Amino acid sequence: MDFIDIVKRRRSIRKYLPIEVRKEDIEKIIDAGTLAPSAHFKEPWEVLVVKKAKQEIARFMKEYSEQKSEDISILKTASTIETCDTLLLIYCNNFEQEKYNLLSIGAMIENMLLEATNLGIGSLWIGNILHVEEQVNAYFQINSKEKKLISAVALGYSGKEPKELVRKKGSEITKYIDC
Ligand SMILES: Cc1cc2nc3c(=O)[nH]c(=O)nc-3n(C[C@H](O)[C@H](O)[C@H](O)COP(=O)(O)O)c2cc1C
Repeated sequence: MDFIDIVKRRRSIRKYLPIEVRKEDIEKIIDAGTLAPSAHFKEPWEVLVVKKAKQEIARFMKEYSEQKSEDISILKTASTIETCDTLLLIYCNNFEQEKYNLLSIGAMIENMLLEATNLGIGSLWIGNILHVEEQVNAYFQINSKEKKLISAVALGYSGKEPKELVRKKGSEITKYIDC
């Protein structure tokens, strides 16, 4: 596939088939993440690969949704986590320049999503995990002074194609201000 075809083909997959993602492919996806640019070359990322415990994480999110939020997307994301094969938890282990580190990790995550697409594996970038950061850290005995949860990424073979989206075009968001 051409690069631009991979970019176009990447979509958020929210329902997955019960097919295992091979460890070699998970490694390729994370390796692609590590090729991302990072501000001051800090490489401020760490990845935890979760298989069995994703059901616990989905439960945390459902409990949070039922007790503390009317945002239905949290419940939906919990269901996605239940059906995906693998959940990557993306942590930041550098506390110096928060904005730069967030941008670096965003680039790293996009690289992973594109490599997953390249391998025929569906993915979802999950920000909703942040609602249950405390529960996730307690479950895995992670010290929040050492690293901070930034996002999660669900991986698996797509069980449902997403609806087409109408996107803003480059020409709609661009102004050539001095040329
Ligand atoms: C930072 C970030 C956080 C996101 N968090 C969630 C999430 O928690 N749950 C979810 O279903 N989608 C989440 N998404 C996916 C977006 O909803 C999705 O990218 C957007 O609707 C465009 O669809 P597409 O990815 O298929 O192009 C997130 C995307 C980004 C960039």
